[in-house]
Amino acid sequence: MQTFDSKYQNFKRPARTGALLTVGRVADVPPGRGATVELTSGAELALYNVEGRFYAVENFCPHRGAPLADGNLCGASVECDWHGWRFDLNTGACLNRPDSPIEAYEVRVEDGWIKIVV
Ligand code: FES
Repeated sequence: MQTFDSKYQNFKRPARTGALLTVGRVADVPPGRGATVELTSGAELALYNVEGRFYAVENFCPHRGAPLADGNLCGASVECDWHGWRFDLNTGACLNRPDSPIEAYEVRVEDGWIKIVV
């Protein structure tokens, strides 16, 4: 559902720092689900579990800023809930608007913990 919350109109793109952030336990994100990861900078990532493999991308859609963590998973891609733009979770490429990619982040699982290289 579309919202006019100012959070979605002033979204921040996460800065690349190379830091490895521990964001939660594997059991916190069941297969087929997405979750929002809030960074201390105020930026957000969307984290997904696709059949046991984890993916992370920036959370806000470059079209109108919808939260992609709430989008619809289609294999290793996510479809934005608002207007249907689709993003490859491996690369961040926008599948129907090649000029509008998002950032994709490396995710590691170590001892049951999910870690993202931001
Ligand atoms: S906000 Fe329009 S497609 Fe995502």
